[in-house]
Amino acid sequence: MWRKCYVFIVFLCAVPTRANSHVRRSPYIANKEALHNMSLQRLSTLRAVMASQPTALAAYIIPTADAHNSEYIAPVDARREWISGFTGSAGTAVVTSAAALVWTDGRYYTQFEKEADLKIWTLMKQSLPETPTLEKWLCNNLREGSAVGVDPHTFTREEWTPLQTALSKVNMQLIAVPTNLVDEARRINNDPPPARPNNTVIPLPVNYTGKPAGQKIRELRNKMTDKNASALVITALDEVAYTLNLRGSDIKFNPVFFSYLVITPSSVVLFHNGSLSEPVLYQLSTEGVEVQECPYAGIEDYLKNMAKELSQCGKHSIWLSSDASEAIHRAASGVDVLKTPLSLISEVSPVALMKLVKNEIELEGFRHCHIKDGIAVSRLLKWLHDQIDKGISVTEIQAADKLLEFRKEEADFMGPSFQTIPGSGANGAIIHYNPSRDGPQKVIEKNDMFLLDSGGQYKDGTTDITRTRHMGRLPTAEQKSAFTRVLKGQMMVGSALFPQGVKGNVLDSLARHWLWQVGLDYAHGTGHGVGHCLNVHEGPAGVSWRPYPHDPGLKPRQILSNEPGFYKVGAFGIRHEDLVEIVQVTKDSKHPKASGIVGDFDGRGVLGFNTLTLVPNQKECIDVSLLTDAELTYINNYHARVLETLGPIMKQRNLNEDLLWLQKECSPLLRA
Ligand SMILES: *[C@@H]1O[C@H](CO)[C@@H](O)[C@H](O)[C@H]1NC(C)=O
Ligand SMILES: *[C@@H]1O[C@H](CO)[C@@H](O)[C@H](O)[C@H]1NC(C)=O
Ligand SMILES: *[C@@H]1O[C@H](CO)[C@@H](O)[C@H](O)[C@H]1NC(C)=O
Ligand SMILES: *[C@@H]1O[C@H](CO)[C@@H](O)[C@H](O)[C@H]1NC(C)=O
Ligand SMILES: *[C@@H]1O[C@H](CO)[C@@H](O)[C@H](O)[C@H]1NC(C)=O
Repeated sequence: MWRKCYVFIVFLCAVPTRANSHVRRSPYIANKEALHNMSLQRLSTLRAVMASQPTALAAYIIPTADAHNSEYIAPVDARREWISGFTGSAGTAVVTSAAALVWTDGRYYTQFEKEADLKIWTLMKQSLPETPTLEKWLCNNLREGSAVGVDPHTFTREEWTPLQTALSKVNMQLIAVPTNLVDEARRINNDPPPARPNNTVIPLPVNYTGKPAGQKIRELRNKMTDKNASALVITALDEVAYTLNLRGSDIKFNPVFFSYLVITPSSVVLFHNGSLSEPVLYQLSTEGVEVQECPYAGIEDYLKNMAKELSQCGKHSIWLSSDASEAIHRAASGVDVLKTPLSLISEVSPVALMKLVKNEIELEGFRHCHIKDGIAVSRLLKWLHDQIDKGISVTEIQAADKLLEFRKEEADFMGPSFQTIPGSGANGAIIHYNPSRDGPQKVIEKNDMFLLDSGGQYKDGTTDITRTRHMGRLPTAEQKSAFTRVLKGQMMVGSALFPQGVKGNVLDSLARHWLWQVGLDYAHGTGHGVGHCLNVHEGPAGVSWRPYPHDPGLKPRQILSNEPGFYKVGAFGIRHEDLVEIVQVTKDSKHPKASGIVGDFDGRGVLGFNTLTLVPNQKECIDVSLLTDAELTYINNYHARVLETLGPIMKQRNLNEDLLWLQKECSPLLRA
């Protein structure tokens, strides 16, 4: 609730004139020399721009990031890619007058060496212990008194503060350069960045979201009252979409739109280019929200004005996420306009915590879209086996495309939730494998293990599933053993009981247990949160050996993935991935361990999982001798549930061949 001092924001939402945004494709690079010339030219333009800053910059940092801390970025924000030529999805570039380096992790070493001009660019292998961190490197390689520049839109405050501290210890300065210098170099080179997308925003009706936007905003305002916050600034794109029950398509795979949202006790202000359509305005009004629209670029001035006005009353504070950019933190604290900047409430966003726990309608949607998705993925697996049995050649990309066709037949499907990973044979061991559409493509061979990791965005939920199959149904003993141990780990998590409130990281070693017993492991986390018709990776909770810093502790109604794996580099990869919902378990619950419960963790409550994903695991790859009776029962019960759930729908839709296949795949697994 609004206290003593009322603030009237009189910022005028003037329509900005749009810069001439001209999309240009980089010319096709015919040979290495031309590539070298181009890389060199881009770099020397950037160096000239760095030198011409009011404080000449000794180094400029170019992370893979946008102003909203998005995991996936739009082409307009792919600045590290433009300057370095390296197209991988992770990495940070540093440019000095003498050096040009990219820090990236083990997934990308080979790709970097293929794409970047190695005469100019140095790869910093982030995963090796002997590689200095970016921070260390700057401290050790620049002269005392040097200025390091960053676009503060591309750094979160949580990233900014430790770097600033480290640099100031060695008498260097971290400078927030307000315009992006790579964008400037692009314009100078006549290769301006593409336009920032502002695609149509659509309403997601309340029968999908389960909670009107007006109610979400009321709940957020109550939290603001508890914190004495005069405004809540929402900067993450999925949080804006969630709060307003709107969706967009500005970033591939993520149904979000470029925007900021500011909630005060008396207003809801959306910073977004383009006007909201009639259906959007109609839904907002039926859901009890009156949105004031401002241009996207107006957010910082608006916050500065707010900071100025708030500084004139005693009690005041602006609440934003610690994941919000340094630029937004600066604007909200009024650093440029106030002698004494406002102190901020900068912590995990209340929207992130709200959307982490799904409501009943969202959960129903999750369960429903997993039935549709199960049908699509099962049909693909059957189709693929048929092709390969008939000797018809299918490439990895053709398999991924066919899967998309099957998903498109399902109701309310909107698109893939991430780039499909179709790894056959040795490619299965590349954890974030992304085959190129240009150039030769790998055919899926009869002798291959085939790892297929994919997901869909549906209006009623988001899916993410991995199944691994041996295409000739003749895995080696080594493959069977690994397949079975990964599956045992997945079942150990899937059937685990644990106290409410423990953080997700405590579950991680359960998934690795059976691999660890024979000296095997996998180099990724076990589970991530999933948004509802939103980002497939959703914080702030997850299951990994490192705790997620903002994990508030596991609660019923959260969605997580359960995805252990095993990768033999150069040979094959195995991953089994289901999505699960967290459920409260009591003695009478339908859970395999319910009847054995004798306590409730001193009142904290017992939690377990319900598996949402419904696609069989290949029985030919399971080494039954490694399974306990309970595990065998678990698998057979799961397969029976898959058939019971998908079977009648397949029958109704006349998918008779698919049903026959599913019946065979789901028949009981027996001890020899
Ligand atoms: C909005 O328009 C401004 C001015 O043309 C532009 O700079 C900005 O990139 C646009 N943003 C979005 C999200 O469309
Ligand atoms: C690359 O630059 C050099 C030196 O400026 C020039 O002689 C050469 O023709 C250029 N090569 C290409 C392919 O543009
Ligand atoms: C929601 O309502 C719309 C329009 O009434 C309808 O078309 C749609 O099928 C409903 N969806 C769900 C999940 O109930
Ligand atoms: C909010 O303000 C009230 C009254 O001044 C104070 O008692 C309370 O501790 C404040 N709460 C927080 C979280 O700062
Ligand atoms: C949206 O983007 C298009 C294409 O870049 C542009 O022509 C249009 O003016 C933009 N709309 C607004 C309101 O910014």
